[in-house]
Amino acid sequence: MSFTTKFSATLCLTLVLAAGRRALAVNDWSVPCTQGKCSWDLPADSSASGALHIWGPTSAISDITPAAGWQITTNCDPSATTQKIQLVCQDSNPDCDHLFQGGGAVDTIVRVPDGCGPIPFARVAQHQILQSNLSSRASEAPVHELALDTNFTAATPSQDGNVHFSIQGMNSNIGSPARRGHQRRVRSLTSSRDKIYRRHFLASGVNAPRGLGSFNHTLAANPIPIDFSGVTNLFNTSIECPASAAIPISSSASVSLDVGADVHVTVGLGAVAAGSLIPPSITEFGLTIALDGNVDANLSVVANISGQVSSPSITLFQIGIPGLSFPGILEVGPEFKLMSQFDAKFGLNNINAAVDLNYNLSGVSFVFPPQAGSNVDGITPGSKQVTISTSPDVGATFEATGHLIPQVDIGLSALGGIASTTVFLNLDASADFTVSTTSIASPQPCVNASSDLNVGVGAQGSFFDLFNASVGTSLFDKEFPLFQKCFGPANPSSTAPPATVTLSSLRRRHDSPRARHLALFGGSLRPLHAKRLDLSCP
Ligand SMILES: *[C@@H]1O[C@H](CO)[C@@H](O)[C@H](O)[C@H]1NC(C)=O
Ligand SMILES: *[C@@H]1O[C@H](CO)[C@@H](O)[C@H](O)[C@H]1NC(C)=O
Ligand SMILES: *[C@@H]1O[C@H](CO)[C@@H](O)[C@H](O)[C@H]1NC(C)=O
Ligand SMILES: *[C@@H]1O[C@H](CO)[C@@H](O)[C@H](O)[C@H]1NC(C)=O
Ligand SMILES: *[C@@H]1O[C@H](CO)[C@@H](O)[C@H](O)[C@H]1NC(C)=O
Ligand SMILES: *[C@@H]1O[C@H](CO)[C@@H](O)[C@H](O)[C@H]1NC(C)=O
Ligand SMILES: *[C@@H]1O[C@H](CO)[C@@H](O)[C@H](O)[C@H]1NC(C)=O
Ligand SMILES: *[C@@H]1O[C@H](CO)[C@@H](O)[C@H](O)[C@H]1NC(C)=O
Ligand SMILES: *[C@@H]1O[C@H](CO)[C@@H](O)[C@H](O)[C@H]1NC(C)=O
Repeated sequence: MSFTTKFSATLCLTLVLAAGRRALAVNDWSVPCTQGKCSWDLPADSSASGALHIWGPTSAISDITPAAGWQITTNCDPSATTQKIQLVCQDSNPDCDHLFQGGGAVDTIVRVPDGCGPIPFARVAQHQILQSNLSSRASEAPVHELALDTNFTAATPSQDGNVHFSIQGMNSNIGSPARRGHQRRVRSLTSSRDKIYRRHFLASGVNAPRGLGSFNHTLAANPIPIDFSGVTNLFNTSIECPASAAIPISSSASVSLDVGADVHVTVGLGAVAAGSLIPPSITEFGLTIALDGNVDANLSVVANISGQVSSPSITLFQIGIPGLSFPGILEVGPEFKLMSQFDAKFGLNNINAAVDLNYNLSGVSFVFPPQAGSNVDGITPGSKQVTISTSPDVGATFEATGHLIPQVDIGLSALGGIASTTVFLNLDASADFTVSTTSIASPQPCVNASSDLNVGVGAQGSFFDLFNASVGTSLFDKEFPLFQKCFGPANPSSTAPPATVTLSSLRRRHDSPRARHLALFGGSLRPLHAKRLDLSCP
C-alpha cells in the first residue's frame, strides 16, 4: 500500500508502506496487549525499519486483535484512520473484558489488527453494544460497535497516569531477507531499541535522545539513492536595440542563463521521539540525517546586454524520499530539493561565463535539533572549472553570484496532526565572479572568482516545546577562492579575441552515465522566472 500525506501545501511527500506487517522481535501478534504496554513495528517489507512502544496504566491500553479474543465482523477500511467497526468476543475469551476495565472502553488506546486502517493504535471514541437481532439466539455473544480515531486530544487523561510512547526508526530497511548481510545490524538495533524502551520506562525528563548515537552505523545500510541529471535554461530574453553610433544597424541584445545538474546522493534518516499519547505531547525528539554522494552542477551565462538580472530562490528539482510513518502518531517525510538563485550585473560586452560547482559528501551527518554529533568534515566542495570569456572594455564590469542549494526538507506531523512543521538542512554553495577592466592604458580583464559553502539546519516553525524557527543555525561556512587573475595584454580597440580563463580540472568523473530516476520519483528540472531589471542595450 502506498499513500501520500500532505504536511503542507508546498511539501508533498510519499511514504511508501508495504502492506502486511510481519511480527518482528518487538511486536508479538500472539500476545494480548493487556499488561499496560504494547509495541508495533514498521512493516518488514517496507523501505523503513522502526518500532513504536506505548505504555501506561493497565486499563488505558488494550487490544482488539484476535490475541485478546476479539474478532472484527465488519469490513475494515484499510486506509481510514477514523472508522466504526463491529466486533465480537470469540469463545468467551477472558481477555476480551480487559477492553472495558477502568471507566469502560471509551478513551482506551487499543491495538488495531493488521489491515484495519493504517494505524497501529487507535483511541476508542465511542462504544455501544448492538441490540441482538430477533432471530439471533440469546446465548450468542453480543456485538460491540466501536468508533476508532486518533484524536488523542479528545481523550480524558486517566487518573492512574499518562499513556506514554517512544519511537525509533530509520528510512532504510535492515530487516528484509534480501539483506542477510545486515543481520548483525538488526540484532544490534534491537538491543538498542530495548535500551531506549527501558530508559523511557525508567526515566522521564531525559534530555537529548541518546538513541541517536545508535543510528549512526545503520543509517547507511541501504538508503534509497537519488539519481538525477538535467540541464535547463533558466532565463533567456532579448531586447531590440536601435541603431547607434557604435552599431549603425538596429540589432538585439540578449541574456541567457543556464544550469545543469548531476546529482547522485543517498539520504539516510533516523528519528527518535518520546512523549505521551494521552495527553498528547512530545517531550523528546531527534533526527539524524546522513548524506553521501555527490552533487555536480554548473551555471552559465551568455550576455551582450547591460543591466541586471535577479532571480528569486527557485526549486529546480524536488523528489520525495521514503520516510518513516507511524500513522496517527508520528510521520516523518523527507524530500530532496535542488534550488538555485542567480544575480548578475552586466556591464561588459559579450560575456560568456560558466562555473562548475561540486560537492563530495562522504559520511556527512547532521543531528537535529542542533547539538553535538553532526559531522560535516566529509563535505568537500570544489569547482572543476571556471570559464569566462569577454571582450575587454575599459571600466566595464561583470558581477555575478550564483547559488546552488541542495536541501533536504523533512516534514513532521505528530499525534493525529496536532503539531506539524518542516525541518530543513541546506548546503548553499555559491560562486561569485567579478570581472573588471580598470586601466585605460592597459585594459586587462581581471577575474576574481570564489565560492562559498554555507551549511545550515533549521525549522520552519515550532514543534511542541521542543524547537521553533529560531533553532536555525549554520554548521559550516567557508569561502574558497577559486581564481584571481588579471590577464592580457588586451587590445585597447576591444576587438581582440575574447580572453578565456580556464581553471584546470580538479577532478574528472569517469562514471558511466547513470539511470535517471525521474519517472520513478516524478522529479523535473523546472525553469525559473527571473526578474529582469533595467536591461539595456550595450
Ligand atoms: C440477524 O441475524 C441473522 C443471523 O445471525 C443475520 O443473518 C441477519 O442478517 C441479522 N439481521 C440484521 C438486521 O442484522
Ligand atoms: C478532537 O477532539 C476535540 C475535543 O473533543 C475536538 O475539538 C476536535 O475537533 C477533534 N478533532 C478532530 C480532528 O476530530
Ligand atoms: C556512532 O556513535 C557512537 C556513540 O555515540 C560513537 O562512539 C561512534 O564513534 C559513532 N560512529 C560513527 C561512525 O560515527
Ligand atoms: C534564447 O532564445 C532565442 C530566441 O528566443 C533562441 O534563439 C535561443 O536559442 C535561446 N537560447 C537558449 C540557450 O535557450
Ligand atoms: C547579442 O547576441 C544575440 C544572440 O547571440 C545576437 O543575435 C545579437 O546580434 C547580439 N547583439 C549584439 C549587439 O552583439
Ligand atoms: C553542465 O551540467 C550538465 C549536467 O550535468 C552537463 O550535461 C553539461 O555538459 C554541463 N556543462 C558544462 C559546460 O560543463
Ligand atoms: C569523494 O568521495 C569519495 C568517497 O565517496 C572518495 O573516494 C573521493 O576521494 C572523494 N573525492 C574528493 C575530491 O574528495
Ligand atoms: C576577490 O573576491 C573576494 C570575495 O568577494 C574579495 O574578498 C577579494 O578582496 C577580491 N579580490 C580582489 C583582488 O578583488
Ligand atoms: C523559540 O525557542 C527559544 C528557545 O527554546 C525560546 O527562547 C523562544 O522564546 C522561542 N520563540 C518562540 C516565538 O516561541
